[in-house]
Amino acid sequence: MVEIAPSILSADFARLGEQMAALKEAGVRIIHVDVMDGHFAPNLTVGPPVVAALRQATDLRLDCHLMIAEPDRYLDAFVAAGADMISVHQEACVHLARTLNAIRAAKVEAGAVLNPATPVLMLTEVLPLVDYVLLMSVNPGFGGQKFIPGTLNKIRQLNTLRAAQKLNFSIEVDGGIGLENIGEVVRAGVDIVVAGASIFHTPNPKEAVMQLRRAASLASTAKG
Ligand code: DX5
Ligand code: ZN
Repeated sequence: MVEIAPSILSADFARLGEQMAALKEAGVRIIHVDVMDGHFAPNLTVGPPVVAALRQATDLRLDCHLMIAEPDRYLDAFVAAGADMISVHQEACVHLARTLNAIRAAKVEAGAVLNPATPVLMLTEVLPLVDYVLLMSVNPGFGGQKFIPGTLNKIRQLNTLRAAQKLNFSIEVDGGIGLENIGEVVRAGVDIVVAGASIFHTPNPKEAVMQLRRAASLASTAKG
């Protein structure tokens, strides 16, 4: 079953707890927290204090996507705040293997993220060290952007690499996904789909998630 991970970047920050509860009722099990430092990504969002508040407000898994320079500096803070999953950008890590090992050593799921311009092969040596790979289907920084179609091939390439190395990390895709394209993304072979605007920029986020889940399940069945 493909998981839908709503990105809080597009949520109503004045009602986060309430919206998380509604999403849980819709069957959501992972919340995607977009952390940006205004340096690695051209936007400034949230940090460990908001993760800690979310931790108090929900038992959903907190998937922290660190779009920050030198993420090693903040791993302890996100672990202490209650992150269940921490992903770091390959482009932001001088010693990616060491960073991934540090996340796993803290008993948190370790993820490696690739920007749209970064080839999948850049992760070849660290795939045994990840619990998931996050493929960006938009350039980091903002919600509501357009899906980059080249991502579909990257998803397929990553599936091939996973099979060749006999690994079982999850494949997560992030950015520009809604009802119009979730089918082809699922058929390309993903395990987790992040969605922000297509959920929160609707009159009823709970209904929007349920429609995405239905579309993903249909595509999974068709994929066989
Ligand atoms: C972009 C973030 C994505 C984004 C997804 O930098 O990493 O998680 O919020 O939002 P949508 O689904 O609106 O593209
Ligand atoms: Zn993200």
